[in-house]
This record gives sequence, structure tokens and C-alpha cells, in this order.
Amino acid sequence: AELSTFHTFSIPTQAHHLVVLDSANELKSLRQQQPSCPMLIGQGSNLLFVETRKAPLMKFDFSAVCIKEHQNDYLIRAEAGKNWHEMVCELCERGIGGLENLALIPGTVGACPVQNIGAYGVDVSQICQSVEVFDWASGHSFELDFEQCEFAYRHSVFKTSKAESWVIVAVNFKLTKSWQPQIDYHGLAEQLDVTDPSPKDVMKAVVTVRQSKLPNPEVLGNAGSFFKNPTVSMQLAQHLKNQYPTMPQFQNQRGVKIPAAWLIDHRGWKGRAVGGASVHAKQALVIVNHGQAKASDVVQLAHDIQQDILTAFGILLTPEVRFVGQEKELTLEQAYA
Ligand code: EPU
Repeated sequence: AELSTFHTFSIPTQAHHLVVLDSANELKSLRQQQPSCPMLIGQGSNLLFVETRKAPLMKFDFSAVCIKEHQNDYLIRAEAGKNWHEMVCELCERGIGGLENLALIPGTVGACPVQNIGAYGVDVSQICQSVEVFDWASGHSFELDFEQCEFAYRHSVFKTSKAESWVIVAVNFKLTKSWQPQIDYHGLAEQLDVTDPSPKDVMKAVVTVRQSKLPNPEVLGNAGSFFKNPTVSMQLAQHLKNQYPTMPQFQNQRGVKIPAAWLIDHRGWKGRAVGGASVHAKQALVIVNHGQAKASDVVQLAHDIQQDILTAFGILLTPEVRFVGQEKELTLEQAYA
């Protein structure tokens, strides 16, 4: 299979086997033929295929959404193949709030808990009730409750070795009826011209803000933020603040979070290119494919940025994008080597 339409960087790469499943029930029979768990690719909105993929890949075409109304909340069960933004729109249309800040994030419902997608002050961990999993090793299905998901910033149990043989088949969300808009993130409130916004109003504001900064992957291939925002020690943060008084810093439980976009921008990377890949002109954290980029261009650019930020600020940026190799996932260093 040719993979350019299966990931949002839209870079041509080949895969030897790609299986598309129409129902979660097909997992059991596929498991009889495939002893090891194929990698599930969702919409490929956080992936870079760095070489011809030999190990099998799978994609889910099942996407039912079931809404149950209770006294104080709605329980939503969505199958893994459901397009994330489509679900956000459908719920907002019905006046059900909770997901509107996460509008326009590319990808599937099944992928949302993996990196605990988040934007504009909300992340999936705040609304996820449980995740339904099929375990390739045992052939059994089970459900992980919120605690077992081990959510953290851009992280969950699904990124750890524990989850190697797990496949997410559905996600359950709990959305409270005592919904309150969350519009503190800078730029959001300014987009709202109503005093008592509905979930749909907030969604529209989020869409406007995102469209003004983030490239549409259908026009300009990309995988959103390329790196995570680093959290550094108070000591390093203070040292950097003395040197760069304009550096934005946000204190959290683990230390001080610094926007990676600021670091990259400050070092003059906006618009800089390697081959067909370049740093987006409006958001320094996004690497875009100008149409002719090879995966190696993206990897080289990411590597050069990472080295430059390390040298300049003493901060090692961790990629948020995942690098898919022939047989397994690679680190940026492995992809670069
Ligand atoms: N900034 C710059 N230059 C830029 C862009 C931003 O200096 O080119 C500085 C500004 O000071 C700005 C700050 O960085 O205030 C933060 O920028 P922004 O609000 O755009 O957010 P971000 O931290 O770069 C994160 C998420 C995004 C999410 C936005 C909005 C990560 C890695 N990224 O980006 O998520 O949409 O916040 O909440 O946490 C994604 O994960 O793919 C993604 C797009």
C-alpha cells in the first residue's frame, strides 16, 4: 500500500501489509493469522513513516457513537475509527459541551487517549471515563478506567511497554451537564462576541484561532506540534529568565513549562527549510511538507532544531511526533542515524 493518504504529512512511503477492519469483531480472526499485534494507524496525524514499512499496519473503519443521557451527565461511547473533529462537531451541535476546546485536532477517537490530546486549556484526561482495549497477547477484551490510563501531559499508559499488545477499540467519555465554557487560554475569549457562549460558540472560536496559526494538513502536510513543550527545573528557568526576560514561563507541579515554539522561534527557525520540509511561518512548533518533502528532510530538520535548542538553552526537546520504522517505532536519534 502507498501510505501518503494514510498520514497527515502526506509523504509517499510504502507498506507491505495494511489491513482495514470494518468491525472490532474482526480482531479475533485477524489475530489467528497475525501472531504479533499490527500497529494501528488511526488517521496518521501524529506519525512520520521514515522507511518502507515491513511489519503489518492496521486501520479501523468502525466509528459508531452512542450517547446516553443521565441525570447529571452524558455518557458517550465512541468507536476507535470515529474522526475526532466530526464527533466534537456532532456533540456541540446537540448542545453537549466538554470537547469544544479540542475542535479541529486531526485524528481518530481511538488515538485521543494515547497522547492525551490537549488544546486551549483542556485535555482528554478531563473527560475520559474509560478506554476499551483488545489485548493481542491474550485475545481478550477489557476496559481501563481513568486511573489505569495513567494520563499526563501528552502521555498515557498507552505509550508504555505495558500497552505493546493492546489495541484501543472504543473510548467512553463523561460530559457533565453543568458545563462551563473554558475560555481563559489567551486569544480565545477575544474571538467570542457573545456573553453567554454555548459549546458551539466556543468551538467556533477555537476553530478560528487554530485556523489562524496552524496549517491545514489537507493543504500543507504536517503532524501538528512536532515537539512537546518542555518542563524544566526552577533553577534552569530562573537562569534562562535572567538571560531572556521575554521568555514565557508557566509554573506547574513538575517545574516550569516553557513553550517549545518560543525557543524555536527565538532561534530564528521560522520558515527555515531542509529539502521540501520547513518550519511553519506562523507556528514555529510545526514542521510542514511543501509537497516534495522526504521523511529524511523532516528528520534532518527536527534533528537540527533539537541540537540548536540544546546548545542555546540547555533544553533537550522531546518529539511529540512518532517515527515509524520498518518493524518498530524509532526514536528521533534512530531515525536520524
Ligand atoms: N510562540 C512563539 N512563536 C510561535 C508560536 C508560539 O514564540 O511561532 C510562543 C508564544 O509565546 C505563545 C506560546 O509560544 O504564547 C504558546 O504558543 P501556542 O499558544 O501556539 O501553543 P503551543 O504551546 O505552541 C500547544 C499544543 C498545541 C495546542 C496549543 C493550544 C503542545 C506540544 N502543543 O502548542 O497542540 O493546539 O497549545 O492549546 O503542547 C499538537 O499537539 O499537535 C498541537 C497543535
